[in-house]
Amino acid sequence: MSWPKEVTIKEVGPRDGLQNEIKMIKTEDKISWINELSESGLNYIEITSFVHPKWIPALGDAVEVAKGIKRNPDVTYAALVPNLKGLERALEANVDETSIFMSASETHNKKNINKKIAETLPILKEVVHGSLASGKTVRAYLSTVFGCSYEGAVDPDQVVRVSDALLEMGVSELSLGDTIGVANPQQVEQVLEILLKQFPKEKLAMHFHNTHGTALANVVVSLQMDITTFDSSLGGLGGCPYAPGASGNLATDDLVYMLNGMGVDTGVKEDQLQRAAAFIEEKVAKPLQSNHYKACQATRV
Ligand code: HMG
Ligand code: MG
Repeated sequence: MSWPKEVTIKEVGPRDGLQNEIKMIKTEDKISWINELSESGLNYIEITSFVHPKWIPALGDAVEVAKGIKRNPDVTYAALVPNLKGLERALEANVDETSIFMSASETHNKKNINKKIAETLPILKEVVHGSLASGKTVRAYLSTVFGCSYEGAVDPDQVVRVSDALLEMGVSELSLGDTIGVANPQQVEQVLEILLKQFPKEKLAMHFHNTHGTALANVVVSLQMDITTFDSSLGGLGGCPYAPGASGNLATDDLVYMLNGMGVDTGVKEDQLQRAAAFIEEKVAKPLQSNHYKACQATRV
């Protein structure tokens, strides 16, 4: 089998990882963690979210975090933006890239952003246009691509329709979300086969959650289909509060360990990643779930 020479990892821990945490992490600790991550060789970090603080209280300090971090010029600092109000705040905080998001399934879309799919698209279009006009690139997430906690199976044709609408808006990349971590490698192959007939592989990224332990297997299938951008969260932190049953993201340290071992270049330094993992484990005050981290802790002398 042949593998890509290099892969881009987009670290979503400070956003997806922390948005669901019950324990409030201090703003200064989030800033220190992002600064640690910025020195690990990762060149993309999603640092926070400009959603309504009532909906996601854990990230209510988005502006302070974005303004407080030390910017590494080699890193793109991105954040979620749901609407023009969020864009206003994101521009004030001067993020490099905005990430719009919506779901392929109606019920998750409504529960998560309080709108029907048809109502969401024009709102996101405004965000894309406003971002591009302000010199910011835009990424899009599509959630519930492989299944929805409210509706169950999601029709791939619906995934194609919404993906098309998002890419048409002028986003530079579409991240396909297995929001509740139910995908398996066969399903990933089937869905990607359909999508890759319509969209260039360079425009697609994968966003796996590891609820049932299938995230790395899903990465392997995606790699075989020439996808080279993956989202992950250090230590496997994460989950969407509006998707019951969703648990942690694919862990960045597990992903980096696997890819480095396969000779696929990630640019990420494992030792620095471990330091950043130990830092956030102490702050969230619970053991991190990533296998690589646990193995390193167990064998540390
Ligand atoms: P809404 O209540 O429908 O908003 O919420 P609205 O437009 O009707 O406005 C109501 C009030 O909220 C107004 O204030 C607005 O100004 C204010 P008022 O006039 O009443 O004083 N408002 C805001 N304030 C601050 N920032 C804003 C903002 N927008 C409106 N951005 C909204 C709609 C989208 C805002 C809300 O539903 C929301 O914030 N949802 C976010 C949910 C969320 O963050 N979920 C997790 C992220 S998605 C995810 O995890 C999946 C992903 O990881 C991929 C995957 O795994 O699949 C990305
Ligand atoms: Mg997610």
